[in-house]
Amino acid sequence: MPNQTTQVVIVGGGPSGLLLSQLLHRAGIDTIVLERQTRDYVLGRIRAGVLEHGFVDLMRRAGANARMDLEGVVHHGFHIAHQGRLDRIDLSGRTAGQTVMVYGQTEVTRDLYDARDAMGGQIIHEAMNVALHDIESDQPYVTYELQGETGRIDTKFIVGADGFHGVSRRSIPADVLREYEKVYPFGWLGVLSQTPPATAELIYARHERGFALCSMRNAQLSRYYIQVPLTDRVEDWSDVQFWEELKRRLPAEVADSLKTGPSIEKSIAPLRSFVAEPMRYGALFLAGDAAHIVPPTGAKGLNLAASDIYYLFEGLSDHFQRGDDGALDSYSERALARIWKAERFSWWMTNLLHRFPDMSPADVRLQQADLDYLFSSDAAQASLAENYVGLPY
Ligand code: APR
Ligand code: PHB
Repeated sequence: MPNQTTQVVIVGGGPSGLLLSQLLHRAGIDTIVLERQTRDYVLGRIRAGVLEHGFVDLMRRAGANARMDLEGVVHHGFHIAHQGRLDRIDLSGRTAGQTVMVYGQTEVTRDLYDARDAMGGQIIHEAMNVALHDIESDQPYVTYELQGETGRIDTKFIVGADGFHGVSRRSIPADVLREYEKVYPFGWLGVLSQTPPATAELIYARHERGFALCSMRNAQLSRYYIQVPLTDRVEDWSDVQFWEELKRRLPAEVADSLKTGPSIEKSIAPLRSFVAEPMRYGALFLAGDAAHIVPPTGAKGLNLAASDIYYLFEGLSDHFQRGDDGALDSYSERALARIWKAERFSWWMTNLLHRFPDMSPADVRLQQADLDYLFSSDAAQASLAENYVGLPY
């Protein structure tokens, strides 16, 4: 296989890598994406579905927004269910009109693949054993294996958008890398069902039996979650058992009208808060899940990847178009400042709504007091709203 040269190698063909590749290509900057899975495998992943306005704007800048703007649903608020009732967080009212868009991450990834195809973007799928070389030098390169042959790509920069289990973060020397992690003592059992959503807006439910979430993908496709012990396995839960438990955790007005149906996807995901610092080492830049993970309670996963990509796109464009490295040099510090605020918000919202196994009666009362304060305070609701719609980039 002949050696190749490009300006930026992007490891990882998930939403982070694809979005950056598309933005750079539209700015005349050449990239090659190395993805170890097949495209179908990547598109088979079921992920979250709430997009901050910052992400929506980036998809429009990338020219990958047509279907999102047609099928995505703008949401002006969501509900928190507690003590048998629904209380609403008025996102647009509390943020001078800011909203979020409900549109599945799988669809975002599909739209980005379509946009890359339309521009003839180079994405190498099933690229195995990707390895980063000479990342401390100004002539880094990447090797990989494809159908038994070894390929080499010489480049100026490498972006590690290869997720939590990727190779990029591990390429930073252990004496340089700092990792911060908090693992939560429960998981989320998620179900996708071809049923109409429980209500027009999302419901985050706090209940003595555990957290539940009612979300959706469109008017015929719903996404539900319930908190489960870490020891549970997906085969422990029949559809009937799932629906019964979900209903127990919702106010009667919602449970009684809930439309159930067969699950078309069912999975359990663990919850963790994780940040790796620094997000740059030499010619290597980390972005998205490669650098950080949030508990899904605040719907921040993909949206944090978006602000990384925004900062990186700005820095790489400045470098290649004006020879200015200021934004690249400040990338890690700038990205981490926003990441840690989103980690805090996601941690806070997870603590507010979940039943922790070791909670004392006092802890339960303090948690309820946190909710009572929230719904008695305009300032507290404004704070939640500005974090949920997305802090400024
Ligand atoms: N070589 C090449 N590709 C790799 C490697 C590797 N060594 N390791 C992982 N990958 C690929 C994965 O197959 C995946 O397609 O990198 C991609 C990383 O994509 P994501 O895990 O989706 O991460 P990211 O693009 O940052 O998107 C973050 O995805 O997991 C959700 O909640 C998260 O919503 C957030 C979003
Ligand atoms: C989803 O629709 O999958 C979803 C929505 C909001 C969250 C997490 C997941 O906080």
